[in-house]
Amino acid sequence: MKILMSLTPAVDPNLLVGMDTWDDAAVYRLTPDLALVQTVDIITPVVDDPFVFGQIAAANALSDVYAMGGRPLTAMNILAVEACVDPSIPREILRGAEAKIKESGAVVVGGHSVDDQELKFGLSVTGLVHPDKILRNSLARPGDVLILTKPIGTGIIATAIKGGVVSPEALEKAIKSMTALNREASEAALDFGAHAATDITGFGLIGHAFEIVRFGKIKARIFAGKVPILPGVKDLIKEGMVPGGTKRNQDHFGSQVRVDSGVSEEQKLILFDPQTSGGLLIAISVESSSKLIEKLGKYLAVIVGDIREGKGELEVISGG
Ligand code: CO
Ligand code: CO
Repeated sequence: MKILMSLTPAVDPNLLVGMDTWDDAAVYRLTPDLALVQTVDIITPVVDDPFVFGQIAAANALSDVYAMGGRPLTAMNILAVEACVDPSIPREILRGAEAKIKESGAVVVGGHSVDDQELKFGLSVTGLVHPDKILRNSLARPGDVLILTKPIGTGIIATAIKGGVVSPEALEKAIKSMTALNREASEAALDFGAHAATDITGFGLIGHAFEIVRFGKIKARIFAGKVPILPGVKDLIKEGMVPGGTKRNQDHFGSQVRVDSGVSEEQKLILFDPQTSGGLLIAISVESSSKLIEKLGKYLAVIVGDIREGKGELEVISGG
């Protein structure tokens, strides 16, 4: 998430990506062919198992580096926990995070903990990127397609976990998705010359797609019927398992988006569902998109929309 920002935008010729385009991470040039990628992301538990929660929080924090086309280098843990909690809980969270950081090729170099009634965990991640190969959110081009690399619905699943109504199968698939790194998707996007990318997190598919059109000054269409959804999500909506963040996203982005009358209420709730450790949304030319899909597989790279000439419009259509 990228909510909290300083009130005065930094001005520095080496600040290649700052706060003005709501991108996933800041990018600061060190030399003509090397730049730092910096991000911080902290979340509350989305699953009961502390080890898995640590994995998810780490994959989620690393994702902002991948969304910029970067390679993670170092990570620092940030843990808010009540002093009286069973020490095995923070230990398992840190162990889960460390496993994911190791998988990414980065190293944990430190951290900080604070006494807090509500458990929270996240990481600050630093990575490297070539200044000419940054995957910004703002450079999608008319004619591009939009590819999504993970199914959505994790906000609904997390709500159902808290409500104790999630099925073991739905839980397993959601955990598999949330703990998966976006590394392969990021590397493939770079290899095949993607024009723009961002990751899908708290603002949901619609909110993050809106950043791509708003800062890219183009128009995007989302094909509601093509968007991959985690198993169990539709049934859980019928049981009322909709997180509070969905309403906030609808209030915030709803008026900016034109939604076709053929799009169902259920589809809308899923499109606005806040995600944890979601996939990348990649804008890439039609020709290159087939190579990307071939590389990642058609289940992990799905065309969910396209880009046209425009001035920042987002449209959700039922077909595609
Ligand atoms: Co973020
Ligand atoms: Co992000």
